[in-house]
Amino acid sequence: MSLQNCRLVSLPKITDGRGNLAFLESYNHIPFQIERVYYLYDVPLQTIRGEHAHFELEQLIIACSGSIDITLDDGYTSKKYTLNDPCCGLYVAPLIWRRLENFKNRAVCLVMASKKYQESDYIRNYTDFIRVARNK
Ligand code: TYD
Repeated sequence: MSLQNCRLVSLPKITDGRGNLAFLESYNHIPFQIERVYYLYDVPLQTIRGEHAHFELEQLIIACSGSIDITLDDGYTSKKYTLNDPCCGLYVAPLIWRRLENFKNRAVCLVMASKKYQESDYIRNYTDFIRVARNK
């Protein structure tokens, strides 16, 4: 899978005098059915999260609050994103290594996932990931 399969997704936002409302729908704003939602919060500033890839899982990552730096790596090249807008999500395709860091300003990282939690779907070793990503 290539980094070109990953992208920032601009979510619809309804704004009025009462504030903002953002939303997303399966197969409309994201190309998968949401099977699981989880979120990271109270992550200490120097902490790195993620550092794994998935064989099949697709995800949309949103910084609901605060700011998070996310580096995606397809085994050949990497690209860094700063998420700091609750109506902007980062779609992460399968077989992409991700590293999440610099959780600033009480960052809350909301993740929509296409499958239930399954440890066997994880690639947690970078050397293994490179082997799989480069089909070696
Ligand atoms: P981990 O994958 O290490 O978090 P991250 O990659 O975001 O830094 O997950 C931490 C723990 O939480 C690990 O024991 C697996 C467990 N976990 C679940 O039980 N369900 C879930 O949906 C997720 C994402 C993790």
